[in-house]
Amino acid sequence: MNLRSDLGSLIGSAALCLATSTLLGQTAPKSTADLRIDTTQTEAHIHPEVYGHFAEHLGRCIYEGIWVGEDSSIPNTRGIRNDVVAALKDLEIPVLRWPGGCFADEYHWKDGIGPREERPAMINTHWGAVVENNHFGTHEFMDLCEMIGTDAYVSGNVGSGTVQEMMEWVEYMTSDADSPMANLRRENGRDKPWELKYFGVGNESWGCGGNMRPEFYADIYRQYNTYVKNYSGNKVYRIACGANGSDYNWTSVLMERAARYMDGLSVHYYTLPTGNWQKKGPATGFDEKQYIDTLVNALHIDEVIGNHAAVMDEFDKEKRVGMIVDEWGIWTDAEPGTNPGFLYQQNSMRDAIIAGLHFNIFHTYADRIRMANIAQTVNVLQAMILTDKEKMIKTPTYWVFHMYKEHQGNDVLPLQLMTGNYKVGDVSIPQVSATASRDPETGAIYISLVNCDTKKGSQINCALEGLTGKTIGSARVLTASAADAHNTFDQPDAVAAKDFKGAKLNGDRLQLDLPPLSVVTVEIR
Ligand code: AHR
Repeated sequence: MNLRSDLGSLIGSAALCLATSTLLGQTAPKSTADLRIDTTQTEAHIHPEVYGHFAEHLGRCIYEGIWVGEDSSIPNTRGIRNDVVAALKDLEIPVLRWPGGCFADEYHWKDGIGPREERPAMINTHWGAVVENNHFGTHEFMDLCEMIGTDAYVSGNVGSGTVQEMMEWVEYMTSDADSPMANLRRENGRDKPWELKYFGVGNESWGCGGNMRPEFYADIYRQYNTYVKNYSGNKVYRIACGANGSDYNWTSVLMERAARYMDGLSVHYYTLPTGNWQKKGPATGFDEKQYIDTLVNALHIDEVIGNHAAVMDEFDKEKRVGMIVDEWGIWTDAEPGTNPGFLYQQNSMRDAIIAGLHFNIFHTYADRIRMANIAQTVNVLQAMILTDKEKMIKTPTYWVFHMYKEHQGNDVLPLQLMTGNYKVGDVSIPQVSATASRDPETGAIYISLVNCDTKKGSQINCALEGLTGKTIGSARVLTASAADAHNTFDQPDAVAAKDFKGAKLNGDRLQLDLPPLSVVTVEIR
């Protein structure tokens, strides 16, 4: 638990008082919370890449979700669907991780280049054992990145690939020389190299990526990484495979044995509603107990990140090595009637709350977290976008990314929050969570809040210390009447961000009237 919010919540429990508001025609109690933001100082810089994404060859993420092929009746540009590109572009995605995931460690990149009809197929053993035709490969991925204006993060194959294969892939993508791989790329229609900013040396090498022990992987990392070269002025940011959740020993061994060869070390943490991988819980139709249990599990990432950060600090006091949370999000049971190997799940207001809580936590570790990638972009796990053939909807999680995008590249403002608790039975969490940041160029301040309570609104009395002569700019809210409210192909806008009327600024005093179950972002400029 983060000390600041914990302390705040404790003080808040004592200070909690109730007002009333009208909720669905009934009078529901409303709590108050105090928020103090110091606008005269800043903490760490929020790397834009904290708002990164992840797209794997899994289920309908790449095929149908992104790639439909040039001959499809679904409007596309060079085979990539236009509606999805437009929606993703609007999110200002800073970085996109590909091709896996577990898929990365069985992917042989040379099968995904050249004329599509000649590309060999393979079995996607992890995800439904479907036949992958390799029509979406390096050129198509880089094209997608250029279309949506994002940096590429490519995960290399350590589990079943060779050092030579990995070395040649990086040469293929980035070399401008008259060299074998660069010439092969030219033969395939791309003259200039691409910029490859981020490269991952294996994925989940403790599991689907090879079932390795950390000591073994640390050596393998050192070996493979040696041959990930910087060609033609491209500088690769090297990411070593990190821990599974709270496996702090993995982080310790990797930091001790290989930190000097890496720029970033990853960690994966998924939120399971029940905490049980065998029966994770449904994406919709859950009760309030399961809702709060899910939030408890989501908030646990605070402790996981804090502990990994502490281990990294032991070996890297200067915080040179970035923590890369390159898989996070809620993982529920697959939608009934769908292929369980495709990990297709609905996305509800609960997911939106979870996304907001994650960002608020990520910001408190902005000095160590260099990137985070939600799993996954389209049709898989906590997706931004769901598609059904030619139809496409934006999910509640999409809207949280949209509302929070203003924090990208900003400096965190110190804050103290005194909030009451949201309780269900004997489980209780802080009702409200908050974050604030300042755009270093424009000076605009962005405040985002999450109200987890399904019934109580919250009146926030916010003191903006040091603030003068500012007004409220944009203000937006995402809310719904039920935690499992979601968008469908028939009702695509049931849960969508709207203008927020509940903010009032008077000098350095900001009043915010948060509805129950809501995420709010307010701009002060
Ligand atoms: O995101 C789905 C899977 O979760 C990824 O392929 C793997 O890395 C993780 O276990």
